[in-house]
Amino acid sequence: MSARAADPSRDPSRPGPTTPVTITVDGEPVTGVLGQSLAGVVMASGRTAWRTTAAGRAPRGLFCGIGVCFDCLVTVDGVRDVRACQRRAVEGAVVTTQAEALPTRVTSDVRAGEVDDA
Ligand code: FES
Repeated sequence: MSARAADPSRDPSRPGPTTPVTITVDGEPVTGVLGQSLAGVVMASGRTAWRTTAAGRAPRGLFCGIGVCFDCLVTVDGVRDVRACQRRAVEGAVVTTQAEALPTRVTSDVRAGEVDDA
C-alpha cells in the first residue's frame, strides 16, 4: 500500500454527476439518467413487462439483459424490434410497447400474389 493517500475527488471509478433524460413510454413521460438503457428506464418506471408474445400473449420484459434473448423488444422512434436492453436512453426518445401478431397463414393463393380473404 502506498504511503500517499489518493485524493478521492480524483478517483476515476467514482460516478460523476448525472444528466437526466426524459423519454415517453406509450405516451407517458418517464425520467431516467443519460447512459442508462431503455430497459432500465422503463423498469424504473414500474413496468416489468412491455411486450406480449404472439402465441399465448405471454408478457415479456427484461430477461437476459445482454442482448441475447430478444424478450425486451420495443418500438423506438417508429423503428420496431429494438432491444431495450441494448439501446441507451436519449432525450426525447419515443418508446412504444409491442404486441406481436400471429403470422398469417400463407396459402398457395397468397404466394401467387392474391389476397387470402379466408
Ligand atoms: S433482455 Fe434479452 S435481449 Fe434484451
